[in-house]
Amino acid sequence: MLESEIEVLKKENQELKQELIKFKTFEENHAKIFNGKNIMITGGTGSFGKKFIKYVMENSSPNKIVIYSRDEMKQWMMAEEYKRNPVLKFVVGDIRDKERLSTACRDIDYLVHAAAMKIVPTAEENPGEAIKTNIFGAMNVTEVAIKNKVKKVIALSTDKACNPVNLYGATKLCSDKLIVAANEYSHPEGTIFSVVRYGNVIGSRGSVIPFFLEKKQEGVIPVTDERMTRFMINLEQAVKFVVKNFSRMEGGEIFVPKIPSTKIVDLAKAIGPECEIKFIGIRPGEKLHEAMISADDSRNTLELEDCYMIKPEFSWWDNNNHLGKSKPVPAGFAYTSDANPDFLNIEELKKLVENFLNENKTQEVKKKF
Ligand SMILES: NC(=O)c1ccc[n+]([C@@H]2O[C@H](COP(=O)([O-])OP(=O)(O)OC[C@H]3O[C@@H](n4cnc5c(N)ncnc54)[C@H](OP(=O)(O)O)[C@@H]3O)[C@@H](O)[C@H]2O)c1
Repeated sequence: MLESEIEVLKKENQELKQELIKFKTFEENHAKIFNGKNIMITGGTGSFGKKFIKYVMENSSPNKIVIYSRDEMKQWMMAEEYKRNPVLKFVVGDIRDKERLSTACRDIDYLVHAAAMKIVPTAEENPGEAIKTNIFGAMNVTEVAIKNKVKKVIALSTDKACNPVNLYGATKLCSDKLIVAANEYSHPEGTIFSVVRYGNVIGSRGSVIPFFLEKKQEGVIPVTDERMTRFMINLEQAVKFVVKNFSRMEGGEIFVPKIPSTKIVDLAKAIGPECEIKFIGIRPGEKLHEAMISADDSRNTLELEDCYMIKPEFSWWDNNNHLGKSKPVPAGFAYTSDANPDFLNIEELKKLVENFLNENKTQEVKKKF
C-alpha cells in the first residue's frame, strides 16, 4: 500500500473515532437537562424508578429528586443505599391523594410518572383499585403538574395500552389519553406532557426472566403458547429513552422506541436448555402478540431514527414539530411483536439473561441461581 493511501486511511479512521466520541457524548448529554433542576418521580422505588434515579445521579447534577411512593420501607432502604444523600427527598404518599401529591410537587421542573398497578391478573380481580391508581392517579398528576407550573412531564405507558384486551392495558390507555389531552389545558405556555410507551422490561419486578429462572430449579418451565412473542427492552434502554425524550418532546407525543422482539419459548430454551417446556395455554387477558402502534394509529405516526412517535390529534399540535427528523409511516403500518424485523435469537437471549444475573448479584439471587 502506498504511503499516501495509508495516510488517507489513518485520517478516515481518526475522523470516524471523532464521530463516535461526538455521538457518545451527545447520548450522554441528554441527562444534562437535569443539571441544577428539581425532578420528581412517582413510583421512584420501583424497577424503573431506581434505575432512573441511579442514571440521573451518575450523569447529571440535579438540585433535588423527589421520590414519591407509598411504602416507607422501600424508601428507607433506598435512602440507606444512597447514604442519606440530601439530593434525594423521599415523600411517602399515594398518587390517588391529590393534595399530598401537590405538596410534593412544589418547585418541580421535570416529572416522571411511573407509579402504577401493573400486574394483569391483579387488575382483573381488583378493577376499582386499578382504575383509582392508574386513571385517577394520572389525572391527579396532570392537575398538580399544571398547578405547580412543572415544565415537562413524561408518563410511562405499556404495549398493553394499544388495543387493550385487559383492564391493566385499558387503564393505561386512559392514562395516555389524560396525559396527551392535558396539553390542551396548559397550552401554549404551561406544562408540556408526553408519553413513553414500551414493552416487557427485562428483569423488572414480577417479570418473565426471574420467573423462568425460578422454574428452572424445578426442571420444568411453563410457557403459555409456543407462538407467543413479546417486545423486550432492558431498564437502562428504557431510562435512557425517557431521558432523551425530555430534550426533544414538544408535548402530546407518544414515543415508542424501536426494540427487539423475542419468542417466549426461545427465552425458556435460553434459560433452561436442559428443562422440559410445558405449554399451559394462553391466560385470561393475554394476547398472543403485543402491539405498540396499531394500524389505526398509522395515519398519525412518524418514524424517527430511534423510535416511532404517535402525534396527538389536537388543534394545538404544530405539524412542524420534529420536521426534518422524521417521516410518516406507510398507511396501515402496525408495530407488533410478531412482525418486528428485529428478533433476538437464543444466543442473544442467553447473553441478556447473563447480564440480568450479573446486574442482580444480590446474595439472594446468587444463592438461588
Ligand atoms: N415492568 C414492565 O415490564 C413495564 C413495561 C411497560 C411499561 N411499564 C410501566 O412502567 C412504569 C414503572 O413500572 P415498574 O416496572 O417500575 O413498576 P414497579 O417496579 O412495580 O414499581 C411501581 C412503583 O410505583 C409505586 N406505586 C404503586 N402504586 C402507587 C400509588 N398508588 N401511589 C404512589 N406510588 C405507587 C410503587 O411503590 P409503593 O408500592 O411503595 O407505592 C413503586 O415504587 C409503570 O407505569 C408501568 O406501567 C412497565
